[in-house]
Amino acid sequence: MAFDKNQFDDIIREFTVSGEQLHEIAADFRYDLVKGLDDPDESSLRMLKSYVGLPTGEETGEYLALDFGGTNVRVLRIRLEGKGKFEIVKKVAKPLRVEGVYDFVGAGSTAEQMFDFIAELVDEAVEGDHEKKYLLGHTFSFPSEQTDLYNAKLIIWTKEFATAGVEGKVVNDLLKEALHRQGIDNVQPTAVINDTVAVLLAAAYKQPGVYIGSIYATGHNTCYLEPYADSAEAPMILNLESGGFMKLIPNRFDIAFDKASEKPGEQRLEKMVSGRYMGELFGMALAELLEEPGKGYGFTSIDMSNIIVDESPAREKVAEIVAKKAGKTLDTADCKMVQELASALVIRSARLVTASYVGIIWQLAGKDKPQKQHIAIDGSVYEKMPLAKENIMRALSELLGEDAAEIDTVLENGGSGLGAAIAAAMSQK
Ligand code: BGC
Repeated sequence: MAFDKNQFDDIIREFTVSGEQLHEIAADFRYDLVKGLDDPDESSLRMLKSYVGLPTGEETGEYLALDFGGTNVRVLRIRLEGKGKFEIVKKVAKPLRVEGVYDFVGAGSTAEQMFDFIAELVDEAVEGDHEKKYLLGHTFSFPSEQTDLYNAKLIIWTKEFATAGVEGKVVNDLLKEALHRQGIDNVQPTAVINDTVAVLLAAAYKQPGVYIGSIYATGHNTCYLEPYADSAEAPMILNLESGGFMKLIPNRFDIAFDKASEKPGEQRLEKMVSGRYMGELFGMALAELLEEPGKGYGFTSIDMSNIIVDESPAREKVAEIVAKKAGKTLDTADCKMVQELASALVIRSARLVTASYVGIIWQLAGKDKPQKQHIAIDGSVYEKMPLAKENIMRALSELLGEDAAEIDTVLENGGSGLGAAIAAAMSQK
């Protein structure tokens, strides 16, 4: 079949963020940030307090780190050695869902089942040792309301999690109870942080000049160090829950997708940019070109990545992926258009994410030039998705002009685990 060129151009246009829109979005993001500092109810950003500032880099000792942010849960034993150095002593990981075997993230599962499963993983990480005392740092990557470093209540599940009995609960209490049920009373959870906070802590542990931490993966979110410049408050990291930023104009695919999601009306930015959703949006747009509107085909962001990198003359890989997922045979010209569609979605994603970073950079700079800094980012989309990094850099230049030379992005790989250990160390103060 040959795609309808006009229809294709329209779809690409719907996924395009112009230079003017980019500026507006960054300015709107800054506006919500300023509003949120005053009163989070006035802003689409939740601006959640983390009760932690930046580490000195001199934190030392052996800690347990629980990284719970997606379907793969990890527990690590990490030895912090100071001077930004650390060693991973032990690492265990398990998925919370194995198709057809068990599922702790669906609506049919309970908090007890989920945390019992996690406690078993902790037991593996301490190798059954129920004597030696450990402080545990918990990277819990969902919007949580905190009153101190320990006490974090899940506000609402994101990333399509639906386990019953966790929303509204203090997650470390659920963890503690599960540890107790298994006789693991030597492990003491003392800190809960968001994964963005973990990334910022991990990056700041190793180098100066990092104030923004971000996750660009299955989910998306950003935090930054709020200096509270004109007040007596100590600087504190704020988890913006920027995935919930609302001042964006969703296109009809975004709208239709949101309606069918677990939490309609929530997480507008995240649903337009993150890995969990991009593949599905791509599938919905492709379905129109294939004259099967309403279908989705189950494309993932990994499919998109494989589609984009195919440089073979006949775009064989693209044809193969579309044949497998959508059951259609495409010629080379159509395959190239499919590639363009996937690229358009990634570019939109990178531009929107960058607009949010720049909103923060503007706010931190005030009337001055932005400070020289690294934005610490972790996540599969940032790390592996073709076109993502280069479009972040391009959008930074578009928005900041020559000041963009002051800003770069650094990959903080595995920051969620390291950050949790650092938070556990900082909890002793
Ligand atoms: C959550 C955030 C988290 C982000 C990245 C979002 O769905 O709401 O808390 O930081 O995913 O994991």
